[in-house]
Amino acid sequence: MAETSPYVVWHHATVTRARREALNGHRPGVVWFTGLSGAGKSTLAHAVEEALHRSGCRTYVFDGDNVRHGLCADLGFSIEDRTENIRRIGEMTKLFTEAGVIALTAFISPLRADRDRVRQLVGDDFIEVYVKCPLGVCEARDVKGMYAKARQGLIKEFTGISSPYEEPEQPELVIDTSRTDLDESVRQVVELLRARSLVPA
Ligand code: ADX
Repeated sequence: MAETSPYVVWHHATVTRARREALNGHRPGVVWFTGLSGAGKSTLAHAVEEALHRSGCRTYVFDGDNVRHGLCADLGFSIEDRTENIRRIGEMTKLFTEAGVIALTAFISPLRADRDRVRQLVGDDFIEVYVKCPLGVCEARDVKGMYAKARQGLIKEFTGISSPYEEPEQPELVIDTSRTDLDESVRQVVELLRARSLVPA
């Protein structure tokens, strides 16, 4: 990456994060869903967003497939590109917290170091949710038919098949979507956000 020019200086806003929080009536944060393709990250992130929105929170979901159409359209699935993907999303979510929003993300984000870098960047308001689901179940679901293609070698560097997935070591929450239904999963995430005072009780 290019070095930042010395003429690029940080401007401090007079409308501060604290003022935005007061206006919104809740704290911002990043709810980072990680897990294999087909584990249910997007479904869960959108369902949690629905619940938060209904209770008056400002939210936004960053979804892997969507972001790769725009902001990250130049990136593929090599380890380097995935790292850059997560770095950009991390920076975006940080900006969203500055804007007072609860950002929810649904990226495989397979590398622990990449996720931990976002945690460092965001600070205390980073909440990692491991959307756990056995590879065999994701493969059986094969919503997009990608696992079958990956097994045939038609899709290279596919997470869980020919590219690594590193499980989180200390996520704030683990949800096994092969055992927990969507309503209960949403309940657990919202409960955690309440306990962390992101969402008013
Ligand atoms: S990440 O590894 O960089 O976090 P991201 O979440 O953005 O991945 O994108 C994953 C989505 O891209 C998957 O849900 C799948 O639809 C699609 N995809 C295409 N090629 C691959 C691949 N080689 N490995 C994983 N997902 C892929």
